[in-house]
Amino acid sequence: MFSFKKLAFLFVVAAMVLTACGGGAAPAEPAEPAEPAAPAEPAEPAEPAVEAPFGQAACAPNCTYADMVLCYPQLGAESDWRTANSASFKETAEQLGVKLIFSDAQQKQENQISAMRSCIQQEVNVIALPPVVETGWDAVLQEAQDANIPVIVVDRSVTADPSMYATHIGSDMVLEGKRAAAEFNKLLPDGGNILELSGTTGSGAAVGRAEGFREDLNSNITILDSQTGNFTRAEGKPVMEAFLKKYEGQIDGVFFHNDDMAIGAVEAIKAAGIQPGDLVMISVDGTRGGFQLMLDGWLQADVECNPLLGPQVMDLGLKLMNGQEIPKEELTDEQTYYADQAEELLPTRKY
Ligand code: AHR
Repeated sequence: MFSFKKLAFLFVVAAMVLTACGGGAAPAEPAEPAEPAAPAEPAEPAEPAVEAPFGQAACAPNCTYADMVLCYPQLGAESDWRTANSASFKETAEQLGVKLIFSDAQQKQENQISAMRSCIQQEVNVIALPPVVETGWDAVLQEAQDANIPVIVVDRSVTADPSMYATHIGSDMVLEGKRAAAEFNKLLPDGGNILELSGTTGSGAAVGRAEGFREDLNSNITILDSQTGNFTRAEGKPVMEAFLKKYEGQIDGVFFHNDDMAIGAVEAIKAAGIQPGDLVMISVDGTRGGFQLMLDGWLQADVECNPLLGPQVMDLGLKLMNGQEIPKEELTDEQTYYADQAEELLPTRKY
């Protein structure tokens, strides 16, 4: 017979065995461990902003001349050189289909600045600036830069930092002065007294020519006086008249910063009874008027300054519109012409 104690013992043992074999009430399923929250997709790394080259137009890299609006705030019409320079821009624009916004500042910097501001407002593609004087351009160059309009400095130079404009294209004015000095050194080997009719005060052309001239002129040649004739015939003549009165009998030669002043001065020189060849006279530009003075025996040499810059400027302007790199300066290749070449070359001179 089983005692109650034995029965209770057997019951406990049976319960333990069942538990060990997985029997009994199934334990509550443990809660599924929460899926770890998917980390937020990392934001696409921002494309590094690739800045379009300064001055690049919306049509880049396929802009053509027909897309170009070019602003040319010409400084004036003071000389034959300037007339040829304006014609070069107008004719080239016409041939290439460039829209040219041309103005004449009448040798006044404030007029050039307001013409530039008007072009900035019109959102032109390129401004080509022939600066009447070297200084005072920083503010308007900054305005053009802020409007993403590149400025090509043409002909004369500016003192503004080169980062303020795209490029400078024109003549090496210092070299022109040196070339003129070389002619005086040759023609006045024993020295002498000379006069200088200089260009517009503060202009890159006058500053550079005066500097190069003084650097290379022999020390036995004295510059008795230097006065501006503002690059014009009208002002060249009275300056020469005053020189002739003041330095009568002392003058061996005259250096003219341009042909127009030489042409005006020759009227005064003739009126004073001076004959071709009595004075050593050297000029700059190489215009037809200068060649005629050489042919007539007044000038012994004429240092070239080439005004035909339209094609080069428009080529550079198109490169800027297409985002291409251009050199920071392009100086024109020039030479000195002599009286004995005048007859042969005059008929084919373009300006
Ligand atoms: O800047 C060029 C000069 O300007 C030329 O020598 C002169 O003729 C013109 O007026």
